[in-house]
Amino acid sequence: MLKQEIEDGQASLADPAFRQDVLRGFDMRPRAIPARWFYDRAGSELFEQITDLPEYYPTRTETAILRACAPEIAARAGEGRAVVEFGSGSSTKTPILLQAVAPAAYVPIDISGDFLRESSAGLASAFPGLDVLPVEADFMHPIALPMQVAATPKLGFFPGSTIGNMIPHSSVDLLRAMKESLGEGAMLVIGMDRIKDAATLEAAYDDAQGVTAAFNLNLLTRINRELAGTIPVERFRHRAIWNDDRARIEMHLEATEDVAFTIEGRPFEMTAGETIHTENSHKYGARDARILLRAGGWTPIAEWTDPEGKFAVILAEAQAARLAP
Ligand code: AVJ
Repeated sequence: MLKQEIEDGQASLADPAFRQDVLRGFDMRPRAIPARWFYDRAGSELFEQITDLPEYYPTRTETAILRACAPEIAARAGEGRAVVEFGSGSSTKTPILLQAVAPAAYVPIDISGDFLRESSAGLASAFPGLDVLPVEADFMHPIALPMQVAATPKLGFFPGSTIGNMIPHSSVDLLRAMKESLGEGAMLVIGMDRIKDAATLEAAYDDAQGVTAAFNLNLLTRINRELAGTIPVERFRHRAIWNDDRARIEMHLEATEDVAFTIEGRPFEMTAGETIHTENSHKYGARDARILLRAGGWTPIAEWTDPEGKFAVILAEAQAARLAP
């Protein structure tokens, strides 16, 4: 095949959901593109680099908390549960939980089949004898779990403060969908990043080495590649802002001068200073986190933090249907 044909082929093979989110997102005011589109190959690699940055405390803090509390989680959850992870466990956090809980099975759920296969294979070889049952699905909706674990009580695992990417309304929908997917008697281990001073938060999302900037700007590169875009990436800059009113870090891409470009032939313009909103990362105080869980159908039963209270790991159990007092 000629190079041009391959490129044309790729353009027409673009994910229709990506195309729709980008074209709609550029028509909206303020402009916005969902954060899930950060994670192409390059974006996933940049995110891995972010987790090692000195300013980005969440990953190492949560990992340390999990190391310390995993035995107590195991004691409270009891033996013989199936661990169901929302987002496939490519991190070092999953083995910590699996080691402690000694589950009956491990069910990673991810929308990307490629990631799922890679991380499942890794975990299966690290835990010989463990039944690894990957499910390729969008966990925002209730999911039918593999029949092998139909009668097994579940322990959900949702680390990384990924829930922070969603606005509270969607977080509650997700928690309810998880409860439905996991079934009766389920428990959930969830990581949530805490509210803290704006300087620490903004530094975590705007590091000195510029890795987070590259991660954010990569979205424009991805649009150019997959959607035949002509966005002048060098005329945009990364912004990370703490929105105190909504208790979230917002990432934006700001045009540094007037720009005009096309995406799949459609013309767009931005004036200097205009932005594209690319991510929210909501932070939750101790009480906020508990209310959010209860709103989503989960009763918090234990929680652990680091000595400075930067991050929290919470264990919750599915609320049984009951009459309100
Ligand atoms: C993967 C969503 C938890 O919000 O902290 C890191 C993504 N964005 N730096 C986060 C992210 C910028 C991360 N989550």
